[in-house]
This record gives sequence, structure tokens and C-alpha cells, in this order.
Amino acid sequence: MSIIDLRSDTITRPTPSMRKAMAEAEVGDDVFGEDPTVNRLEAMAAERMGKDAALFVSSGTMANIVSQLTHCRRGEEMILGDRSHIFFYEGGGSAALGSIHSRTLPNRPDGILDLTAVEAAIRPDNIHFPRTRLLVLENTHNRCSGAPLPVDYMKRVGELARRHGLKVHIDGARIFNAAVALGVPAADLVADADSVSFCLSKGLAAPVGSLICGNADFIREARRNRKVVGGGMRQAGILAAAGVAALTEMVDRLADDHANARRLVRGLADVPGLSVRPEAVTTNIVYMDIEREGMTAQALSGALEREGLRILPTGPFQLRAVAQYHVAADDIDRALKKIRTVMGR
Ligand SMILES: Cc1ncc(COP(=O)(O)O)c(C=O)c1O
Repeated sequence: MSIIDLRSDTITRPTPSMRKAMAEAEVGDDVFGEDPTVNRLEAMAAERMGKDAALFVSSGTMANIVSQLTHCRRGEEMILGDRSHIFFYEGGGSAALGSIHSRTLPNRPDGILDLTAVEAAIRPDNIHFPRTRLLVLENTHNRCSGAPLPVDYMKRVGELARRHGLKVHIDGARIFNAAVALGVPAADLVADADSVSFCLSKGLAAPVGSLICGNADFIREARRNRKVVGGGMRQAGILAAAGVAALTEMVDRLADDHANARRLVRGLADVPGLSVRPEAVTTNIVYMDIEREGMTAQALSGALEREGLRILPTGPFQLRAVAQYHVAADDIDRALKKIRTVMGR
């Protein structure tokens, strides 16, 4: 039985063109700044994001912690969403490694942080308070149905941040999904941010790696912090070569994943015992809530696994399905058939 794996876009494997590029990559010692392929990838990334410079790091988590360490000093405060990946899934690294104080505000279901609430959370200058240094937003927002944050919202964020002297970091692990869904260049979505991180190893299917982009001074300092956390890699061009192929060949096809996610949502509409919010799905992530007495997400995912379908439990009664490169439209139809078999229709 062939398995359909909808747990995540992180399970994607490198394409034949990536493997060829990796085998043939020109390399050097990147800690000395001498790896031509890493340098090329960093230049491409900076250009795509409309920033001066970029830094190649091993993961999205490393990109986020290095960015936080570069923006904030010990005891300073960062405002971020209560459903954000940094707050939820990064091992408390902000506190553990940065002594950064996290001030969470509720994410709306579309990933947005209400800007009136953000403004009210900014601390006045008073020795009792931590200094509010950084505002973090996530685009697309993983735990908010993969919602993209639009350009006009980002402009208002930039205006607010400038007025209060706040730095803005975008966790753009899936920024290209946002750009493709909204039909705008990624650079337009991060023009008002001081830093953005994005991942090569999710929907873009590269095996490893993320980039941090920002101005030249920020990236120089981030390079120091990358070394501190042990992220200075040597002949990393082997990995960067796959990243160059990912940026060149894999961005536009994200539209196929978005179409497949919508196909899944349409098919789930009449499945009894499962609730989805069709209007929420505009990129590649679909959340479904179980509404059946006595059925848990663990039990349902186990039953689906026995049918050859993998879907990730993300809460006691919630599961997540993510459309990705190795899943075609007819796999979605087969997946729906398996879900109907298990749910009894
Ligand atoms: C929004 C977001 N940010 C950051 C990350 C972290 O990426 P990594 O798993 O490469 O550390 C993820 C991973 O899924 C993510 O979804």
C-alpha cells in the first residue's frame, strides 16, 4: 500500500535537480566567508527579500533565535502571538538562550495581531518595566490555518513600529506561500520589517536550511550570533546548492499545493464528524476538528494510518493536513476516500 503523507511540508525530499546541484556544488569554508555557493544563495535570498544581506543557517528555529538574539538584549521584551511558532514550538529558546521576555497577545484566527492591542502592550519608559524591543509576526501563520498576512497590514505594522522605535522580525518560514497566495513579491510583504527568516526545507523541498535577511549591520551581528549558537558550518555549499535550486525552481509551484489544500477542504465539507473552516484555507495548511463523541485525534490518526494516510494530531481533538510537493490532486481524492471509510461515509 502506498502511503499518502499529509503531516507536514517538512517531509519533502530533495528533487533530482537538487541532488545533482549538491553533488556538483563548488564549496569552501563558509566560516571564512569562502563558500561560493553559500555566498550565491545568500545574495539570491537578500535580493528576493529586498534586503541588503542574508545569512544561511541550519533551520527555521536557528533563524528565529539568531534573529531574536541580534535584536534583543537580556531582559528586553518581545511582543508575539500566542499561537506563534516561536512561542509554541521552539523549546522556549527565547528565554533559555536569550533571556528575552515574551509578551504574548492573542492571534486572531487569520494570524493577525490587533494593532491597537500591540500599541497598548508597548511599555512606557519606567524602571519597573522591561524595554519593549521587538515585535514578531509569522507569515504565513502555521497555527492559524496557514493564513498569509497581507501587504496593507504589514504597512500599518511598519508605521506603528517606526512610531515607537520597535524592531520587527517576520518568521517567514512559509513567506513564499504567502507571496504566491496573495500574488505579490515576497519583498513587498517584508519591506517594513527589520529582519525576515524563511525556510528552504518546507514547501520548497530542499533538505536543510533557512535564511535570515536584513540590513548589512544586522546580518554582520547575526553572523556573530550564528557562531555563538554553533551554527557556523564549513563546506555548507553542498546544502546551499539545493537551496539555490529551491529558490529557482520550486516557488511558483506552491500554487499547486494551495489548490490541493482547497480540494481537500471541498471534499471534507460533507464528511460527518469533522469540521473545517473552508474560508480559512488559502495556502497549504488545513486544520480539522473532530466533532464525534469519544473520538480523539490520536485515535483518528491511528485509524487513518492503518488505511495508509498520515495526518498530524495537533491537539486532543484537532488534526492538521498539509499539501506538499509529493502529493498530487489524485492523492487528495484517495485521501478523502480513506477519510470517508474511517468516518463512516
Ligand atoms: C512558522 C514556522 N517557523 C519556524 C519553523 C521552524 O523550522 P525548523 O523546523 O526548520 O526549525 C517552523 C517549522 O515548522 C514553522 O512552521
